[in-house]
Amino acid sequence: MIIALAGKGGVGKSSISSQIILQLSKKGVVLAVDADPNTNLPDKLGIPVDATIGEIRNRIVKDPDSIPGGVSKHEYVALEIRKAMHEHDNIDLLVMGRPEGEGCYCFMNNVLKECFDGMIKKYEFTVVDNEAGMEHLSRKILPKADVLLLVSDPTKIGIRTAARLSAVASEVGMKVGRRILVINNLPGDLPQELTDEARANGFSDVVAIRHDPLVYSAGLEGSSLKLPDDSVLSKGVSEIIKMII
Ligand SMILES: Nc1ncnc2c1ncn2[C@@H]1O[C@H](COP(=O)(O)OP(=O)(O)O)[C@@H](O)[C@H]1O
Ligand SMILES: [Mg+2]
Repeated sequence: MIIALAGKGGVGKSSISSQIILQLSKKGVVLAVDADPNTNLPDKLGIPVDATIGEIRNRIVKDPDSIPGGVSKHEYVALEIRKAMHEHDNIDLLVMGRPEGEGCYCFMNNVLKECFDGMIKKYEFTVVDNEAGMEHLSRKILPKADVLLLVSDPTKIGIRTAARLSAVASEVGMKVGRRILVINNLPGDLPQELTDEARANGFSDVVAIRHDPLVYSAGLEGSSLKLPDDSVLSKGVSEIIKMII
């Protein structure tokens, strides 16, 4: 099952992704993909990262001769991806990192796409933490998402933006199974205005998550997001997981 998250910057995608990954890792092995060039997910998960797919991609495009003789480009990229995988308990973390540089990336992205396709099939769960418009990874590499979580701040404009990003996913050819709106960081109960706005924008599945003081203090300390099961965010994420599996 592929779960992708999208939403504008700062709405809580990486925080929510991290908790989805941690909770799912109790059920099976999770492929976690940080597809935002502003790599945040490793810090939230507390997994140190020293290699990114973006570096591999840029290096091969810039210097195709770096591929040793006797191996195909596909084999080489698959091997490099495996080396860039950060394994931690039941979580295998891949970080996209830098976006494309100068040069022609079509061939390289096709190879990456094939490698991803093959890899995703081996995992019970894949969770992709995207940047706002899904420009760099998902458009070219991620073919589909069984579940697309559109994360929004608790405002009408935020919900409209989430709806727009949901439309972008379809426009770029991503096949999406189910779409769920996650209204995050609420100061209290979900107000009727936002429920109405969600419905007006075509969202029938909505999860509301309140402001979590533990998430706030982890942010102040810059620490990873290891939350107790009864924390506000953990409970919100459990609700999402119950909806989808
Ligand atoms: N439910 C929440 N309660 C409190 N703070 C939150 C909550 N969700 C996110 N935050 C905080 O909001 C900020 C942005 O979250 P982040 O997950 O990095 O967003 P994004 O990945 O969408 O840019 C972080 O400082 C994070 O700690
Ligand atoms: Mg983020």
